[in-house]
Amino acid sequence: CGIVGYIGHRDAYPIIVKGLQRLEYRGYDSAGVAIFDGNEINLAKTKGKVEDLKKKAESSISVGGNLGIGHTRWATHGVPNDVNSHPHYSNSGNLVIIHNGIIENYESVKKELTKRGYIFHSDTDTEVLVNLIEEVQKTEDVKLGKAVQIALNQVVGAYAIAVFDKRKPDEIVVAKLGSPLAIGVGENEFFIASDASPFIEFTNNAVYLEDEEMAIIRLGKEIKLRKIKDDAIAYPNILELQMNLEEIEKGGYDHFMLKEIYEQPRAILDTYRGRLRVDQGIVKMAGIDEHLEKFINADRIIIVACGTSWHAGLVAEYIFEDLARIPVEVEYASEFRYRNPVITNKDVLIAISQSGETADTLAAIKLAKENGAFVFGVCNVVGSSIARETHAGAYTHAGPEIGVASTKAFTTQITVLTLIALKLAKEKGKFSESKFHEYLTELETIPGKVEKALESNPLIEIISEVYKDSTNCLYLGRGYNFPVALEGALKLKEISYIHAEGYPAAEMKHGPIALIDEQMPVFVIATKKGHYEKVVSNIQEIKSRKGKIIAIVTEGDEQVTELADHVIEVPETLESLTPLLTTIPLQLLSYHIAVMRGCNVDQPRNLAKSVTVE
Ligand code: G6P
Repeated sequence: CGIVGYIGHRDAYPIIVKGLQRLEYRGYDSAGVAIFDGNEINLAKTKGKVEDLKKKAESSISVGGNLGIGHTRWATHGVPNDVNSHPHYSNSGNLVIIHNGIIENYESVKKELTKRGYIFHSDTDTEVLVNLIEEVQKTEDVKLGKAVQIALNQVVGAYAIAVFDKRKPDEIVVAKLGSPLAIGVGENEFFIASDASPFIEFTNNAVYLEDEEMAIIRLGKEIKLRKIKDDAIAYPNILELQMNLEEIEKGGYDHFMLKEIYEQPRAILDTYRGRLRVDQGIVKMAGIDEHLEKFINADRIIIVACGTSWHAGLVAEYIFEDLARIPVEVEYASEFRYRNPVITNKDVLIAISQSGETADTLAAIKLAKENGAFVFGVCNVVGSSIARETHAGAYTHAGPEIGVASTKAFTTQITVLTLIALKLAKEKGKFSESKFHEYLTELETIPGKVEKALESNPLIEIISEVYKDSTNCLYLGRGYNFPVALEGALKLKEISYIHAEGYPAAEMKHGPIALIDEQMPVFVIATKKGHYEKVVSNIQEIKSRKGKIIAIVTEGDEQVTELADHVIEVPETLESLTPLLTTIPLQLLSYHIAVMRGCNVDQPRNLAKSVTVE
């Protein structure tokens, strides 16, 4: 989501609306503004884009005033609709808030507040937070800043918030944990935003809040920074920004794709946050819990998807069969829908789609429903067609993916599917408590390990330079990493226009081996777990035909390292979780090769982000 705020001498509304438009790359399913006109807070919000908000606000409220906040949403809870959009009032109407992030324990806080007479109009965690702040203000008789601090110490989650009180219109309070928040510092005016793009035309001076920091921004005063936990005073470090608008939107990265590759540690964390509960020893997923019987009694699971999402489905096949012992078939949606497939009411169909709009996947869902199957969606876009068409589902919380070549959507899809498989393994009694616990704790280490895998970026750039002029590449993997080989090849094809093929390593000898000569780079996933020795033999076969080997190996590897021309290390993990790590270097490789070849990385020729035609 994107947030914007203004307090100063100018009209707040135009600054906020323009700022929201610049932040639309962060989310665009609903938007809202709240402007203080000197007496009252005027609020307008709507499902849709900022353009829709403009129309609504300008025809329904008075937009004059020098204090305001605005929000553009990428829904994580609740369908995108008018009531769930931000800003949210507190019950008294004195406070108004915008929030980017997730409050995990909002249900218990909501229960408590309901007991005390609070009424909730939306399904959001944000409305709970603003009322908690109001309750603290009342019961503890403290100022807004203090109330925000006390309230934040009672919630668990991630946030960037901005809140003001109409009885104190010279002040905005902001706080950050996990989601970004920048304050633009002008001449007796302040701007608040998720990044500097909304205010860069007014001021180059910015303060970036650190995690667990809050700021009290008061007109005519210096910014007051505090640590949320222990109330320690922090000193604002005012930076002078040199970046232009486009650079800011890309968060300082050269392309959205690279930014999204680097967002993966957080995206994976956001996806299992609140679901993976190691302390309680459970995986909580409402969409599964409510239909557990369907999954437990299913004869088989059919997965349908297209493109990268289909590759995530292939990884899921290994995970579901290996851990939960449920037979799985993975189908291209376009083939499935026209094949006259056998579908019964004992089948569970899982449709995977980043956009939730892919026409073939949608048609496959309808066909499965007509034949009585239970249909479950794994989508990134909340409220998308597929999310609405399925009986139940689980969202990936990757945030908006702008680069056409899918990266963080893929790893978060695998994360969701792993959570489902673990849950079913447990429910079906296929896992002992200790094995289940081992998986949960290991999954929690993945964001840190992805971070570690990203550290190979400089090495990957050097390797990319060596192979950037290749005309053909082969990608090999076995077991869990066979789909990763397919995905690696697809990434390279999509953005660098080099012909690439992914193959199960052992199948190489039934065809592709004929292509191998000294011109042919072969990318091999050869991590320690799984069929390591067998992959080593495959590597020897390639070497003896003079192929070039670039191997993805486990940290500390010796055997493959000796044979290969280049190795890229990833941390060790459980075999079924390796795809989350081995994918990373392959994404970076295709990214660098494409950049070096002068290709349009974010918008490759002939491809679309969302394919709504068959
Ligand atoms: C297009 C995109 C791919 C994506 C595929 C499926 O081809 O370019 O990146 O994997 O569609 O899209 P979906 O939104 O259903 O995951």
